Amino acid sequence: MLPREHSWSWLAVTVGVLLGVRPSACGDLSGARPNILLLMADDFGIGDIGCYGNNSIRTPNIDRLAEDGVTLTQHLAAASVCTPSRAAFLTGRYPLRSGMVSSNGYRVLQWTGVSGGLPTNETTFAKILKDRGYATGLIGKWHLGLNCDSSNDHCHHPLNHGFDHFYGMPFSMMGDCVHWELSEKRAGMEHKLNVCFQIMAFAALTLTAGKLTRLTSGSWTPVIWLTTAAFLFFMTSYFVGVLIVHADCFLMRNHTITEQPMHFQRTTSLILKEVSSFVQRNKHRPFLLFVSFLHVHTPLITTETFRGKSVHGLYGDNTEEMDWMLGQILDTLDMEGLTNSTLVYFTSDHGGSLEAQLRNHQYGGWNGIYKGGKGMGGWEGGIRVPGIFRWPGVLPAGRVIHEPTSLMDVFPTVVQLGGGEVPQDRVIDGRDLLPLLLGTVQHSDHEFLLHYCENLLHAVRWHQRDGGRLWKVHYRTPVFHPEGAGACYGRGVCPCSGDHVAHHDPPLLFDLSRDPAEAHALTPDTEPLFYQVTDTIARAVEAHRRTLSPVRLQLDTWGNIWTPWLQPCCGRFPLCWCDQEGDPGSLPAREN
Ligand SMILES: *[C@@H]1O[C@H](CO)[C@@H](O)[C@H](O)[C@H]1NC(C)=O
Ligand SMILES: *[C@@H]1O[C@H](CO)[C@@H](O)[C@H](O)[C@H]1NC(C)=O
Ligand SMILES: *[C@@H]1O[C@H](CO)[C@@H](O)[C@H](O)[C@H]1NC(C)=O
Ligand SMILES: *[C@@H]1O[C@H](CO)[C@@H](O)[C@H](O)[C@H]1NC(C)=O
Repeated sequence: MLPREHSWSWLAVTVGVLLGVRPSACGDLSGARPNILLLMADDFGIGDIGCYGNNSIRTPNIDRLAEDGVTLTQHLAAASVCTPSRAAFLTGRYPLRSGMVSSNGYRVLQWTGVSGGLPTNETTFAKILKDRGYATGLIGKWHLGLNCDSSNDHCHHPLNHGFDHFYGMPFSMMGDCVHWELSEKRAGMEHKLNVCFQIMAFAALTLTAGKLTRLTSGSWTPVIWLTTAAFLFFMTSYFVGVLIVHADCFLMRNHTITEQPMHFQRTTSLILKEVSSFVQRNKHRPFLLFVSFLHVHTPLITTETFRGKSVHGLYGDNTEEMDWMLGQILDTLDMEGLTNSTLVYFTSDHGGSLEAQLRNHQYGGWNGIYKGGKGMGGWEGGIRVPGIFRWPGVLPAGRVIHEPTSLMDVFPTVVQLGGGEVPQDRVIDGRDLLPLLLGTVQHSDHEFLLHYCENLLHAVRWHQRDGGRLWKVHYRTPVFHPEGAGACYGRGVCPCSGDHVAHHDPPLLFDLSRDPAEAHALTPDTEPLFYQVTDTIARAVEAHRRTLSPVRLQLDTWGNIWTPWLQPCCGRFPLCWCDQEGDPGSLPAREN
């Protein structure tokens, strides 16, 4: 649990600092609370950013944010895939606590029309800040569920989780939204439906042949049934791509569907317009705005202005476009005179996807020196993400911090900055980052961080207090395919359990302080502290397990299966089609 008094004293420090910066707020505590702007990229690698060492991709706006603020080099997502990582971010808790994980391989919510989602009794930082008078908005991707019992009860909707404004995709960007070859669901479903079609068609033909040659007798009824079934399977496999586009690729404003399906070429400008109008509307009160980019998830939808401009193909173009969007958003703050009263944060939900590859062309992010990527339980590349905080006049400019921190830390940090209280009736795994960011303490509050894959513990890191060494153990690791490739090519995302996962007993041990790339596993022969370290970590895991209570896993079978009556539909089901968005006008030209 969070040491409350300790945290409050830091709030006092901040308020003091702020009063110095903004004399107009003198004596008025509410006036001292900052606006909070959280920017999250989707599937973005830590190695794709100038200020994290990339010298060929252009991210001047993210770099500027880092120059003016604090950069975290060991910032960790609570999961290596979207849904659980985002649930942990919003609640400050390991996703296993809220049940936002699976145990059967369906790692994220699979459809908009499923009943699983962020449980209504979970408390997001948005809910707490809204109760403290903040205007709260979410613009962009959600992917934390929508309905429970009907197509419009919206029990898991952002507006039911503390946001009073929502504009974006309730689901997620996907290759399937544009019938792309890199398919999340379509290709697999087409294949299964085709197999069913072939079985039915073969059976129908065999029976017909038998009857025509008088080898079998009986009525024609089974033949008619088999033919009908074959026809239905064939038609469904033919249309499944279109069905997915209508089922998942749509935009909502608050509770209303505005575009089903989406017109992707205008989405970027619609999102920017929405951000700007949210800031305009709320500039006179404290606001919390979470901009959850659809970039840089496949299919990497990029406007003409940016296509073909980077030296890293479509992925690079899309990254540079996102950086430009970020610049536009920061400019909006500047123009409204809000820069010094706004805490800005930038991160990615997890690492880049190594398997997003077609014919040896890479469409996923780059995780720098770190091993592995999206979906791979404990390997650093899937969970170590960018983390930048800027608050001019309060946070030091240009500071770099190498301590372990988590995306879950944003929860207590913004709750306390907004004058709220961290819930006391549940375990919160995040820690207030403010003292570390301000430089008033040197060490992060995280001694141990656990790295789950679905509901299974894959790895644990231990930042040793005395000596400062950074240990990491892996209990399970995905078996790469082909062997030695460093990813699971041809298998989609690596699994968390089953035949393609290796178990390690004793665990694999790395000293990240010397070997951040996890290249040299230590053994009891090479590392005299081996058993001391693995035992200490095992005891910490035991202590952690005692804080877990059983909950329903939202991402398991019944919560994660497409259910017709939960499918949101604009127009008349199953013809879900509408467009209520005018032409937002063309994008302003890029300044170069
Ligand atoms: C920069 O990013 C691109 C695109 O992901 C990647 O291919 C390249 O290797 C990166 N360069 C460095 C020096 O990290
Ligand atoms: C819906 O959106 C508007 C702005 O577009 C906002 O003012 C309003 O508070 C939102 N929330 C609800 C519940 O209508
Ligand atoms: C914002 O803060 C910076 C850093 O403290 C300061 O140099 C600048 O003058 C401030 N700007 C305004 C408009 O107060
Ligand atoms: C939310 O409700 C579920 C189901 O009743 C329960 O298992 C869980 O502990 C509750 N969570 C919190 C944080 O109260």
